[in-house]
Amino acid sequence: MNSSVMRSAIIGVGDYLPETIVTNEELAKTVDTSDAWIRERTGIHERRKLEAGLATSDMAVGAAKKALLAAGRTPADVDLIVVATTTPDLTFPSTAAIVQRKLGVPVCIAFDIQAVCSGFVYALSVADGFTARGLSKCALVIGADAMSRLMDWTDRGTCVLFSDGAGAVVLEPREGRGDTSDQGLLGFALRCDGTKQDLLYVDGGPSTTGTVGHLRMVGQQVFRHAVVNISEAVEAAAAVAGVKVADVDWFVPHQANQRILQGVANRLGIDEAKVISTVATHANTSAASIPLAMAQGIADGRIKPGQLLLMEAMGGGLTWGACVLRL
Ligand code: ACO
Repeated sequence: MNSSVMRSAIIGVGDYLPETIVTNEELAKTVDTSDAWIRERTGIHERRKLEAGLATSDMAVGAAKKALLAAGRTPADVDLIVVATTTPDLTFPSTAAIVQRKLGVPVCIAFDIQAVCSGFVYALSVADGFTARGLSKCALVIGADAMSRLMDWTDRGTCVLFSDGAGAVVLEPREGRGDTSDQGLLGFALRCDGTKQDLLYVDGGPSTTGTVGHLRMVGQQVFRHAVVNISEAVEAAAAVAGVKVADVDWFVPHQANQRILQGVANRLGIDEAKVISTVATHANTSAASIPLAMAQGIADGRIKPGQLLLMEAMGGGLTWGACVLRL
């Protein structure tokens, strides 16, 4: 028998992309690569680059403002801010605290989550804990990353992949029936395998080198891990939610590489027409990529209220995870 349960419903989505576009052709002028190679191996045509003088919090605030507007809420309503980022403005305070100040949100709960490209899925699950337990009535969950600031711009194996941006959602509690018809977050699966650190990491940090460092990656192995393990997490999240992957209306994956998107979709038997892909123009914006893709799918009319969405991501850690939700 179903019983009443508190769900976290997404009531607004917002996005922010820096104005500066860097095309494959432009990159080919500085590293030994080509537009043809990047398109064929990754599906990426162009990426964004945060302008000097701006920080991750500026992108987060831009996305948050749009999400609040879409939700019909104001900064005064917000009582929880969770920012998923791997490129904080400062080592401390958290980017969430800076976002709170810049947005003018009154004293509230605010902190960052660090799970790299999986950060948004991790952040949603943490915020869900607050919302579903009555500790938050209006939460901002933001994925924001300025990956351009971590690039080794001489490394063609990584600098072509990453990008900058932010996406945000507003979460509110909704009483549900405890079944799959409920609006809100229905199921998660979160994973981390720290033994795979060397496949994807940044070679600096405050307590080791005292520097920010640069992103290092063993691309092929990350690729293989992504396709196999994301599929397992997706099946697990669907099982927790009580849905079948085939019932999902839209697959909204982390946008790392078009071939990973296709590989995961094929493995799970998801029709490619149901995959929201923004990798061609957004590239890999790390924690921002899922909410950015969601915002695009909503803006172009594909994703509609009431539909069942499936999100998944994988990133440094290695971390990975999936979330099933009804919009
Ligand atoms: N332009 C031209 N040649 C390149 C480039 C480039 N930008 N990058 C690498 N190459 C070369 C390599 O040096 C290698 O040359 P070699 O054969 O002479 O040694 C050749 O291309 C093949 O390299 P591979 O690494 O085998 O190429 P692959 O097909 O695996 O593609 C890529 C590389 C795109 C990095 C792929 O492995 C990938 O996407 N991996 C996933 C990594 C990822 O997405 N990470 C993001 C974070 S985790 C996540 O979000 C899932």
